[in-house]
Amino acid sequence: MEEEIDKYFQVVLELTKNAGKLISERMFAQKTVETKSGAIDFVTETDTEVEKILIQGISNYFPDHRFIGEESVSSGGHCELTEVPTWIIDPVDGTMNFVHGFPHCCISIGLFINCEPEIAIIYNPVLTQLFTAVKNKGAFLNGKRIHVSKEKDLSNALIMHESGTSKDPEKLDVVYKNLRMLIPQVHGIRSLGSAALNMAMVALGGADAGFEYGIHIWDIAAGELIIKEAGGVVLDPCGGPIDRLSRRSLYASTEELAKQLSEKLVQFYPLPRD
Ligand code: IPD
Repeated sequence: MEEEIDKYFQVVLELTKNAGKLISERMFAQKTVETKSGAIDFVTETDTEVEKILIQGISNYFPDHRFIGEESVSSGGHCELTEVPTWIIDPVDGTMNFVHGFPHCCISIGLFINCEPEIAIIYNPVLTQLFTAVKNKGAFLNGKRIHVSKEKDLSNALIMHESGTSKDPEKLDVVYKNLRMLIPQVHGIRSLGSAALNMAMVALGGADAGFEYGIHIWDIAAGELIIKEAGGVVLDPCGGPIDRLSRRSLYASTEELAKQLSEKLVQFYPLPRD
């Protein structure tokens, strides 16, 4: 199995690096933008092309593998996580950043086998940040081992946060309540506009924790393994185990910090599952 996983990793790494060229070449060019679930939920031709390149490329090598891709699901495809090896792909995480030329966006891709993460890559080709992890082998940034901060105390923490793409007043109310509650209690709040890169910052030890309501499985699939392999935890915002299709996530450098954050958060539930 180890040899197979290594082969999967080498193949997907090359495909991801190549597909990333499309993002970096087009980052500062004019884009054709369409909307999906709401007025600021964007998709560009690059999202669609990158996803196609990855799915076709992986299928050529491993025809039995399955896929959950953001753009395939948005256009009516299945979002089903089974025991079968399944690649979960966000071709451009941070599409709004990509549209604006704000250089924090990435390809996020993770392989799940028996519903557990085995391989993860988060690649920002514009800033050449390549985060990788293979289960039980550690997490890396551009080939160098990374670790979470080990911060345990919320009052010393830098927190990653996104308001998301939904303008639902009930959801926004929870966003504001949590920010109002957290800002006086933590060192600071940061928002990169990419759920995957936010998670990568915690894996790197540059931030200490984060959470979001409304994310999708493809936003967090790679980040989960990269954080865990860097020594951190990924949970449901209530503090229980992560439910990857529930559209909610909380991640932290330590269990103690995750618990403190979870106990203080105003929770938000009414989200249709992936
Ligand atoms: C979005 C980004 C954003 C997060 C949203 C995601 P996309 O992904 O990760 O930071 O707040 O919840 O949907 O649409 O750019 O792939």
